[in-house]
Amino acid sequence: MRGESETVEVRHRTLFARDCAIAGSFAPSERIVLYAGDCLDLLKTVPDGSIRLVVTSPPYNIGKEYEKKLRLDTYVEQQARVIAECERVLAGDGSICWQVGNYVEKGCIVPLDTILYPVFSGLGLRMRNRIVWHFEHGLHCNRRFSGRYETIVWFTKSDEYVFNLDAVRVPQKYPGKKHFKGPNAGQYSCNPLGKNPGDVWDIPNVKSNHVEKTEHPCQFPVELIERLVLALTKEGDWVLDPFVGTGTSIIAAIRHGRRGAGAEIVPRYVEIARKRIRMELDGTLRTRPMGRPIYEPAAAGGSPVHSQRKSDFAQPALFEEDAECGKKG
Ligand SMILES: C[S@@+](CC[C@H](N)C(=O)[O-])C[C@H]1O[C@@H](n2cnc3c(N)ncnc32)[C@H](O)[C@@H]1O
Repeated sequence: MRGESETVEVRHRTLFARDCAIAGSFAPSERIVLYAGDCLDLLKTVPDGSIRLVVTSPPYNIGKEYEKKLRLDTYVEQQARVIAECERVLAGDGSICWQVGNYVEKGCIVPLDTILYPVFSGLGLRMRNRIVWHFEHGLHCNRRFSGRYETIVWFTKSDEYVFNLDAVRVPQKYPGKKHFKGPNAGQYSCNPLGKNPGDVWDIPNVKSNHVEKTEHPCQFPVELIERLVLALTKEGDWVLDPFVGTGTSIIAAIRHGRRGAGAEIVPRYVEIARKRIRMELDGTLRTRPMGRPIYEPAAAGGSPVHSQRKSDFAQPALFEEDAECGKKG
């Protein structure tokens, strides 16, 4: 498990010097590309089959400051155009990971992965996992249970795909456990490198007290994307995020010696992304380290007492009367 100081040390692999250029347009010879504009314009400059991993969290069509709320079918058509381009640029052994939550209309939810699945499968993409990303912070709903997970749907282009399980193994529950009888008696009964992390990931989302928080309303935590980058790509590969926001996917890519490209349409977020990427290259970007245990209030000596009265909660502004919940709103 790495400490915060160690995260700084892994930054500078051979591919990235401190003064590495951040290009404004795509060329396979670049290492970092931050395109200020519409992702479809970036994608059309990317050659067929050149990207090992597309990873993104698109707008959810819930009226955030950077999106105009569309009819659901119009939203799906718009997403389908981007997804088709992502499939075109994807390498034969590459992966697409689309991280989504719910579309919410008058208190009714539509899980976006369910309505986007036909788009991916219609392009011949093969689903490998529907990862549940569980987190603890978000809005408190009054008329349904508060949303505390979103999903990452992972598709591959073919049956031959990069998957480095050893790079992302997590500690065993009982690490020293051995077979006590039979032909393997005395040998470890579990993989000494750790266990498969499974498809339910407990990773804190980026809310106000998170070390990575910027003014963007819905950033990825870097550690979420690090796990995907390590498992689904090799050093030197391209990782592309069509909706890159604050640059998290690029940061996770370059931290592990991969190339990173992304598009962002809002100029303010482009500037935040540029600054964070520069800090990553300098070794000054503070992030929550991969694998750090989740904070447990009771174990940390906090009070287990809870209240059912709204006024007792520390963040009343997060209450919503009309039920639009989740990471995004
Ligand atoms: C859910 S956020 C992604 C945040 C990102 N994962 C991060 O860690 O910061 C979606 C982002 O897509 C951007 N966006 C929306 N439409 C876009 C488009 N057509 N092309 C490029 N970016 C777009 C929004 O401004 C927003 O920052």
